[in-house]
Amino acid sequence: MTELDYKNNFDHFSEVYAQNAFEIWKDLQNNCPIAQSEKFRGMWIPTKYSDIEQIARDTDTFSSRSPVVAEFGAMADFGLQVPPISSDPPYHTSFRRLLLPFFSPARIEALKPTVALLANELIDSFIEQKFFDGAMDYAQHIPIKIIAQMLGIPDEDGDQFRIWVHNFLELAPTDISVAATNLLHFFEYFQNQINLRKAQPKDDLVTFLINTKIDERPLTDQEIFGGCLLLLVAGIDTTWSAIGASIWHLASHPKDQQRLRDEPNLLPIAIEEFLRAFAPVTMAREVSKDTVFKGCPMKKGDPVLLPFPAANRDNEAFENADDVIIDRDKNRHFAFGVGIHRCLGSNLARMELTTAVETLLVRLPEFRLKDSESVTWSLGQVRGPRVLPIEF
Ligand code: HEM
Repeated sequence: MTELDYKNNFDHFSEVYAQNAFEIWKDLQNNCPIAQSEKFRGMWIPTKYSDIEQIARDTDTFSSRSPVVAEFGAMADFGLQVPPISSDPPYHTSFRRLLLPFFSPARIEALKPTVALLANELIDSFIEQKFFDGAMDYAQHIPIKIIAQMLGIPDEDGDQFRIWVHNFLELAPTDISVAATNLLHFFEYFQNQINLRKAQPKDDLVTFLINTKIDERPLTDQEIFGGCLLLLVAGIDTTWSAIGASIWHLASHPKDQQRLRDEPNLLPIAIEEFLRAFAPVTMAREVSKDTVFKGCPMKKGDPVLLPFPAANRDNEAFENADDVIIDRDKNRHFAFGVGIHRCLGSNLARMELTTAVETLLVRLPEFRLKDSESVTWSLGQVRGPRVLPIEF
């Protein structure tokens, strides 16, 4: 792909983008800070920190009704809602408020022993062989287990979750038949879960969504499905990617690894730096009225990609933005977004990420990449390592 292609033909599902995102953002920031693609229905791609912040905060002009950019059309036009992320105020405010208690500091603290136990069990399973895949054998299992626990779903269905999330995030946006088939399976599965809770309520998020009220009325089944789907999509690949990218960095930077072993108190600051430098989540907005933004004539209905990870590598916002500085002190990163949709699960994600990295550092001797060429990165709007061979 040539330089020109990124400016006119940006494609967040291309293999080239998956492998070279950092260089592509840098090139766009320097040469074309708000690009427009000929693909994805004329999608706009701002890459500067200040532009991304302005768009994320302007909910009157930039709607959240279709937060994933698909080739075949706007998510909302297919009736797919995943509130609160796919909604605008005032509905967004009400739905977000409903979920807040599930992310309280006390609830998250209570989940920490489960994460630590699982991390240790996973390490037990590969410690003898002195090799593991950081993405497949370790990082992915932690968020799956936690989301299953929050939703009250059996652990053994975790693999099914992983397949759905992969299909929804990496395949469905460019293949409508994958989108339709997987949504159908997902709805069937959760319809069954809803029926089970109606017969026998449990202390979990599905039961809560069935029994709660929004603006003095019960949620519709569509809203319950949408809330569950969002938690799966928002909670699994995101955290899996953040854990994997942190392991990738440590495995290829032995000095940082040693420093965190020597100075464990530095870990929370290092985790923020990993979140900044390897932020996994890119979101999207839809232009809700014709507007000219920084000289760009945006039309009602145009998709706008919001690559928060690119904002985090903008040299105007961060000194030496492309360097990973594990004791960086000023770090107002956008890994969790900015504005009214800022991540509801950020404290949960931080706890999972910190516990996962801390446990590895405590249990393993120095670890390193086995074959850096074989590392692969996911496609689409959530970016993280999917093959990550590590030896120690
Ligand atoms: C490292 C892991 C994570 C990252 C990087 C991340 C990133 C983000 C970002 C960038 C947004 C903003 C969306 C926007 O502006 O449109 C967001 C929203 C959200 N996230 Fe996360 N997330 C992570 C983990 C989680 C987890 C574990 C959960 C819950 C289980 C979660 C639940 C949510 C929800 C519900 C929203 C929607 C909030 C709203 O619309 O008001 N996230 N996340």
